Amino acid sequence: VASFKNRDVLSILDLSRKDIECIFATADKLEYLVTKRKRNTILKDKILGSLFFQSSTRTRLSFESAMQRLGGTVIGWAEAKQSRAGDSYQETLADTARVVQSYADVIAMRHPNNGAPEEFAKWAEIPVINGGDGTNEHPTQALLDLYTIKKDKGRIDGLKVLMIGDMVTERVLHSLPYALAKFEDTSVYSLAPKGLRMPKEYRDEFRKLNLHYEEVESMEDVIKDVDVIYSCTVVHNRHDITKEPYRVTLKKLKSARSDVIVLNPLPRLDELAEDVDDTPYQRYFHQPLNGVIIRMALFALVLGAKV
Ligand code: CP
Repeated sequence: VASFKNRDVLSILDLSRKDIECIFATADKLEYLVTKRKRNTILKDKILGSLFFQSSTRTRLSFESAMQRLGGTVIGWAEAKQSRAGDSYQETLADTARVVQSYADVIAMRHPNNGAPEEFAKWAEIPVINGGDGTNEHPTQALLDLYTIKKDKGRIDGLKVLMIGDMVTERVLHSLPYALAKFEDTSVYSLAPKGLRMPKEYRDEFRKLNLHYEEVESMEDVIKDVDVIYSCTVVHNRHDITKEPYRVTLKKLKSARSDVIVLNPLPRLDELAEDVDDTPYQRYFHQPLNGVIIRMALFALVLGAKV
């Protein structure tokens, strides 16, 4: 725990396997607060600065719920345009960071620009947690996804994951392979329309991390072999793309392993049929609950609280 105190969580690449296991072990200890709808007081003196420059339902509310479950309080704005960094002043992140650190003890930030939380963290002396930056990364989403998978499968090592969606702009599809690469013998199969496949910079990084990463041409190619299907939206404003090959339906899941699980970070559009909702495959309504648990664990660790 000592090694976590005051750390930023900006990219999954900054976390070792041991770090991820420590986050999961801390999350296990705090889970009862969410499942029993309780609060404790381990962060009663702490304030979260909830700095969301982009819209969010899950990430923002779960960070805020996590802080409140641990006895802390939350400050932030309703909309970024009500802040000076989001209005016509366009106050810099450097100035905003040097100001807001006097008001809060930890920051959760979402921003449309790649690297914005990193820039903020350069100037703030308090821990900064990335809640999604541009098209770059969404590290806490990947952590809660892995935690959801681990709870179900009992392990991460050796798992095969099929990721479906827009590999260019869907930031969690960059963080999730980074996270899986920290474990032994994991494989990622990637299905995306031409033009939305994984950018080279990420593929190069996966290679450096020795991740088994493979692009597939259709769901049928691998659906029989995978343990996890990770479904994401294929951009909805592109009418030139046929979406059906990327759509997860109950009918298609009949060819999958009987114990396959389906995750989706949500919100969903038409990439995930509602006929999967009430089936044993569905884990996408487990992910939001795990999101609060993981974010409680991160706050406890970076703020050095005894759990
Ligand atoms: N999964 C996720 O990041 O959802 P929000 O955009 O609602 O935070």
